[in-house]
Amino acid sequence: MEKLWAGRFTKELDKIAFGFNSSIDIDSRMYRQDIQGSMAHTSMLVKQGIIEESDGILIVDGLSSILEDIDSGKLEITSEAEDIHSFVETELTARIGDAGKRLHTARSRNDQVALDVRLYLRDEAAEVLELIKKLIGAICLQAEKNTDTVMPGYTHLQRAQPITFAHHILAYAMMFIRDAGRIEDAVKRMNLSPLGSCALSGTTYNTDRTHTAKLLEFDGYTLNSIDGVSDRDFCVELQSALSLIMTHLSRLSEEIILWSSWEFKFVELDDSYTTGSSIMPQKKNPDMAELVRGKTGRVYGNLMQTLTMLKGLPLAYNKDMQEDKESIFDSFDTVKVCLQVTSPMIETMTVLKENTLAAANRGFINATDLADYLTKKGMPFREAYKITGQIVRFCIENNFVLDNMPLEEYKKFSDMFDSDLYDEINLFTCVKKRISQGGTGPDSVNAQIEYIKEYLK
Ligand code: ARG
Repeated sequence: MEKLWAGRFTKELDKIAFGFNSSIDIDSRMYRQDIQGSMAHTSMLVKQGIIEESDGILIVDGLSSILEDIDSGKLEITSEAEDIHSFVETELTARIGDAGKRLHTARSRNDQVALDVRLYLRDEAAEVLELIKKLIGAICLQAEKNTDTVMPGYTHLQRAQPITFAHHILAYAMMFIRDAGRIEDAVKRMNLSPLGSCALSGTTYNTDRTHTAKLLEFDGYTLNSIDGVSDRDFCVELQSALSLIMTHLSRLSEEIILWSSWEFKFVELDDSYTTGSSIMPQKKNPDMAELVRGKTGRVYGNLMQTLTMLKGLPLAYNKDMQEDKESIFDSFDTVKVCLQVTSPMIETMTVLKENTLAAANRGFINATDLADYLTKKGMPFREAYKITGQIVRFCIENNFVLDNMPLEEYKKFSDMFDSDLYDEINLFTCVKKRISQGGTGPDSVNAQIEYIKEYLK
């Protein structure tokens, strides 16, 4: 296949150098966006009288037929072309002759690739947003089923205070809502058309960048042509947002892995999201959650790759920038599949309420409430805290829990204790009494569920 830039050269590119230079195996997936961009560009060239209308019609028809044939599998994108832009243009000229050679008027591959990547990532971002919302929905469903499921809340992975499972899992919904917001923010900033920046300095033709920007549903065009072709900030922003999504998915996965262990047994994962062992017949492994946790590393790595690739590049386009695609495509692929597998895994898992309650019953997680009981009766909190600590030690030494230590033992620590203390430290009461805004009490949890449902509408 003749190179687009063959004119200046007397020798063919070395074979290894050609393969090294080529990006088609990576960028072929942008064929749709490349063709969309070329169609918009053609429309602008005709409107501005830069090419004949008859040529414009030939070009657009030719591009449509190429798109159709790639979609149907009739036309295979071969590695003979250097990149997807060369492939489409060469194929177009083969199909419609000389008119095809007019398409690239007032355009460079530098603004073309910048455009294609933005268009492609905008579509990917929309898909990720859909998937995030599905996951938030799955979390909300589990929350609704578990508003009265009492479990220990942890700090330092030590049992700390009683909470409901709903409150715990809803924390993840809040993270994913922020993640969606970050993707939306990045898209907002990215949604300007670089098309018409040309190689770097603009063009002598009387182009209309507003026209192409509108046709391609951008909010406007990039104001500086050098920035237009040099900017890959949006790759960094999106990869950063994707990295945080993975952070959250990974923390959730870690908890699911812990919770499904025999040591916790807070949840039972559905068989469709677990695997067995080739040697240990009893095993049911949370492979999906482990893989999500494991794949986080590659998404972080991709972010670092892009940042490092960009640092130190002089303006404007440099070939280094061809390395922008592989990593961000991989990040989107990874995040999408992780979201696709996590949502149904969360939705189908069973929370083992007796087990979470049993765990809450051990570990003195109502000690804060016992101290609060004394405080409300007038004892200064520090003093109440100290006495409660002594009671906990006494319980451990004498095999009691706070809930079953007899009142006469309590009285030895303070005569402020009365039989109403047992109701105060009952785990269900403890949860219900957490009436502060955003706390684990039922009003707050219901408010969170309502907020999320409104968000998902
Ligand atoms: N394949 C190239 C890339 O992805 C397209 C732009 C090439 N431009 C150039 N002047 N060599 O970056």
